[in-house]
Amino acid sequence: MKRVYLETFGCQMNVSDSERVATSLAQKGFEIADSEDNADIILINTCSVREKAEQKLYTRVGEVRAGKRQKPVVGVMGCVAQLEGETLFNKIQGIDMVIGTRAVGRVAEAIENVFDYGSGYSDLGERDPEYDWTVAEEQRHSPYVAFIPIIEGCNKFCTYCIVPFSRGREVSLPASEIIRQVLEHRRSGVKEIHLIGQNVNSYRPKTESGLESFSGKTPFSRLLRAVAATGIERIKFNTSFPRDFHPDIVDAIEENENLCNWVHLPVQSGSDRVLKAMRRLHTIESYFKRIDRLKASSRDISLTTDIIVGFPGETEEDFENTVRMVEYCEFDSAYIFKYSPRPGTPAYEMPDDVPNEEKTRRFRSLEAVQRAIQSRRMQRYLGRSISVLAEKHSARSSEHLTGHSTCHRVVNFPASDDMLGKIIDVTVTGVKTNSLFGEVK
Ligand code: SAH
Ligand code: SF4
Ligand code: F3S
Repeated sequence: MKRVYLETFGCQMNVSDSERVATSLAQKGFEIADSEDNADIILINTCSVREKAEQKLYTRVGEVRAGKRQKPVVGVMGCVAQLEGETLFNKIQGIDMVIGTRAVGRVAEAIENVFDYGSGYSDLGERDPEYDWTVAEEQRHSPYVAFIPIIEGCNKFCTYCIVPFSRGREVSLPASEIIRQVLEHRRSGVKEIHLIGQNVNSYRPKTESGLESFSGKTPFSRLLRAVAATGIERIKFNTSFPRDFHPDIVDAIEENENLCNWVHLPVQSGSDRVLKAMRRLHTIESYFKRIDRLKASSRDISLTTDIIVGFPGETEEDFENTVRMVEYCEFDSAYIFKYSPRPGTPAYEMPDDVPNEEKTRRFRSLEAVQRAIQSRRMQRYLGRSISVLAEKHSARSSEHLTGHSTCHRVVNFPASDDMLGKIIDVTVTGVKTNSLFGEVK
């Protein structure tokens, strides 16, 4: 039996692809190894969103081949594979095969090909029409949480972003297939599903089969109501694209207890001028409208975002507008990135004119503003009882479990193993910047 070790970088789409690759390889008689030691095949599922992410591939290929007597077969999957294709064989010594983002259904064939004919195999083709979206229970990243892709690819072409090139055009999965997966997960003990996609709220299936009996102002809000009606305990979704964030999504959350109170809505900048250069298709005014609706909700929806500092042409004034925007929105958490030029994107042609030290300064200064807001926001949970899914043991102590609240905060609490997989009420007794501590009453 050949042993395969899968290593995954990047976003949830990659995690989800890896889960399906593991499912199909296990069905075909491969053993899925939990470490690279003694693996016959090492598959690296790569990310290309920033230069640092891409460099991980270079480091890892060197590491997995160093000092091994029996050299494993090394395959590169994911966004770097799709973008670089066969040129990777010349760029990095020691790669045997390259598998693009939509060719992940054919990894077994690729491996066989390398064993039969040697290295140099690449597949950058499209998904097979009969591609199986099922993830086996044993291959999920968690026994209690499952990712379900509902839309793949991206049509937005924000000027800084490589994703439309590595993932191709938006394709929505049929609603009936999504519902089938939700029901199957529910039967196998999953408590929380994440509907995932680069822009989930741009969901637009070719036919609405499975959604006919559900009302909603957009196909996505109809889908949310249909998934809520399955009775699965918790539903989360990300990422949402601000322009397409219809207020009906908030209505759907308010109508259905199992739609969790968390929305990730990447804003990227607080300056209209920069947003325009980024081609984000929203303005600060239109973004604030969405924020106001979310904040007015009775559900205390937690709000998270992504922000890029140091985009080409970003002035001190633009940056100050971003700080003001962050102060207005009071995000529960924000991922802040320094702009990283990606070859092939429109922004790559613009002068990367904010010096790295200045990008770092803006990053740190915005981070400090956000940290202060976040600490203040976290205080509101103190003394409150919140519902938490007990997902696993805490890394710190064997007597503690850890999991996420409905508002997607990490919560640590003392509890015994028999609580694992249960949704429990935890009273918050301690607050940190990024996590909560509580007690089961
Ligand atoms: N589809 C999502 C997320 C895409 S990638 C969206 O529409 O926002 C995740 C985040 O990485 C982005 O939100 C953005 O903040 C960041 N990002 C993407 N390209 C980047 C680049 N070239 N430099 C720095 N950050 C980038
Ligand atoms: Fe990238 Fe923009 Fe698409 Fe998000 S919406 S994946 S940032 S191009
Ligand atoms: Fe990275 Fe590709 Fe996801 S570039 S963020 S792994 S879509």
